[in-house]
Parts: sequence; structure tokens; C-alpha cells
Amino acid sequence: MTVLSLSSRPLASLRPSRPSPPLHRLLCSKPLASSSSASAFFLTPPTPRSDPTSTTDSDPTPLFLRPATYPVPAAALAAFRRRASALVPPSAPHLHRHLRWLLADASSSSPSPSSSDDEPALLRAPLGDLEAMWERHVRDRRPFQYVVGNEHWRDMVVAVREGVLIPRPETEGVVDMVRGVEGFEDGWWADLGTGSGAIAVAVARELGPEGKVLAVDVSEVAVQVARLNVQRYGVQDKVEIRHGSWFEPLEDVKGKLMGVISNPPYIPTDDLPGLQPEVGWHEPKLALDGGKDGLEHLLHLCEGLSSVLKPGGFFVFETNGNKQSEFLVDLISTKWSSSFHNVEAALDFADIKRFVTGYRR
Ligand SMILES: C[S@@+](CC[C@H](N)C(=O)[O-])C[C@H]1O[C@@H](n2cnc3c(N)ncnc32)[C@H](O)[C@@H]1O
Repeated sequence: MTVLSLSSRPLASLRPSRPSPPLHRLLCSKPLASSSSASAFFLTPPTPRSDPTSTTDSDPTPLFLRPATYPVPAAALAAFRRRASALVPPSAPHLHRHLRWLLADASSSSPSPSSSDDEPALLRAPLGDLEAMWERHVRDRRPFQYVVGNEHWRDMVVAVREGVLIPRPETEGVVDMVRGVEGFEDGWWADLGTGSGAIAVAVARELGPEGKVLAVDVSEVAVQVARLNVQRYGVQDKVEIRHGSWFEPLEDVKGKLMGVISNPPYIPTDDLPGLQPEVGWHEPKLALDGGKDGLEHLLHLCEGLSSVLKPGGFFVFETNGNKQSEFLVDLISTKWSSSFHNVEAALDFADIKRFVTGYRR
């Protein structure tokens, strides 16, 4: 397996799509720089830190949304850039890109051609905080998305923070599958395990006046972050966030849903220790751990599905890939053939059978 970099797109330039590590290709704990002295930083998991004077851990607002209230002399900023670059091992050019993006998110504006070198910059965080954020990214392998507090996903900039999964590019496809369902605009949908709320918000933005998404998560952090994203995209009238476990908060909509969407935890427990450090050390186990064979939550979702979907209702589940998808297609088509039809595996952009889809009879 290769090391996959957790990079993000800069906000200033609305950059093109960038690679995030798909959940199915995360089994890698190789350090970023195996021969550099910097590699010593990467060998042990970070110890949790909390500096009460810092805004970096306490402020859940994505960096680019914070007010630019910190004037910093140009020379101090240039010195920070040099110090930050010096931390980056030669084998990790993506970190130089991240440094540019961090500064783009932290700055109130791009430098204009007329601005003098001596002009102070207005930053959205104190320079000391940026320094701490950068060190945690390079030394502790804290994902860049957690550092800046956002991830680009479809055409959105989704707020994220520790405790909530960073939405992955392959998951973007579920929104298009929902859009392919006849009459989807006016249906009620459930996004089970909503995390940052990325799927729920994206689907909600496609819905008509009668449409609605019930976004469920058992994690309180996820509920908070999803709420923030729902507000940021102004879809409060279309997304109802419900705190609880899978189908439990959906008692009142049994048999009424047009669709169920879920990207549940699906990594086999035994694979967790081998995860890429950015993921294994920093992303929530609750969002990753799928139990034995990774199927624990997926099986629970399959079992409960028929009780919440209305006749003709659609479902799409994301899985760990080929084997899990094939297993589930086979299971649903045999064990629950009286309840579902047209059950099939759907490919992601890497031609992996990433999704299982089907319809309620
Ligand atoms: C793989 S993450 C997916 C997050 C988001 N939907 C996405 O695609 O980025 C799985 C989510 O399921 C949630 N989860 C785990 N167990 C759950 C449960 N019993 N009930 C509801 N949600 C749960 C986690 O908190 C996490 O947010």
C-alpha cells in the first residue's frame, strides 16, 4: 500500500479536486520520511495536547471563517514561512502545498501586486497558533482538514473537526445516485451516520419544497458539526438532525421514507491498528470500526431497512469495497428477496464495487 496524503483544497483559489485517502486504502503506517531526521517525529502516536491559551483546539470555527483580527509584520510572517518549511522532510512535497494553503486560509486577502513587503498581514489566528497548528500537522500527522477545519466535498466547503470523519471523495457519488431516483425531490430521506452532514446537506440542496433529510448520528460531535454545516448552507428547513443510534430516532417515520443513505463504519476491527496514522491516530474510531469483518453496522442497517422504507423506496450503502458489497448483494437478494428487488453493487470512480443499492418492493 502507498502512503496517501491527506491534502485539502485551498479556499482562496477554489482549487481542483485533490486526493484524500479513501477509507478502503488506508492500511499503511509507513512514515512520511523514512530516511530523514524528521522521520523521528512520525514513529509514535501523538500525545493529546491542550493549551488553554491557544485558539487552535478550542475554536471549532473553520479557519477561513474566523475574523482576520491579528496584524502580523511581514518579516514575522516570512520568518514563520521559513521555520515551517524547515520542518518539512524532502520526501513530502505535499506538505509545502499544505503550508501555502494554510497561509491562504489564514490570510484575509491575497497579497496585491501593489502591497509592499513591509505591510503587515491581517491573519485569522495568532501566528503562534498557526505555528502550533503546523507542527501538529507535520509532527503529529494531524490531518490537514482538521488543521484548517474544512474539507472540499462536491461543490461545498464542509466544516470538520476532530471527532467527525473527514468526508471522502468516493462518497460524493451517493448524491448522484439519489438524484437518479424518480421523484426523489419530494421524498423524505434518511442519512444514517451523517458525520459532518456532508451527504445530508448535499442531498437537501437538491430537494424540492416537500423533500426532507433526516440526518442521524450517535456522536454528539457529529451532531454539532452537522448542525453547523446545515446552517452554513441555509438548509435548516430541509434537514432535521436527530441524535441517536441508526433507526432508533426514526420510529415516527416508519414505512414513510423514500430513501435511506448510509456510509457506516465498515473497517474490520482487526485492520484498525494498521491504518495510516492520519486516520488511525486522529479520526474517530466510532466512524471507522465496523466490528468483525467490518460488517456489524452494515448488517444491522440491512435488517432494519424494510421497516423504514415505503414501497418503492431506495437505499444506498457505502462499503469497504468489492468483497463486502458482493456479500451484501448476495445476502439481501436471497435472505430478504421478498422485501427488495434490483439489488446490486455500484462502482465508485476507481471501479471498485463501493456501493450496494436496491429498492423496497
Ligand atoms: C464512516 S462515518 C460517515 C460520516 C459521513 N456520513 C460521511 O460520509 O462522511 C460513519 C458515521 O456513523 C456514525 N455512527 C457510528 N455508530 C453509529 C450508530 N450506532 N448510530 C448512528 N450513527 C453511528 C459515526 O459517528 C460516523 O459519523
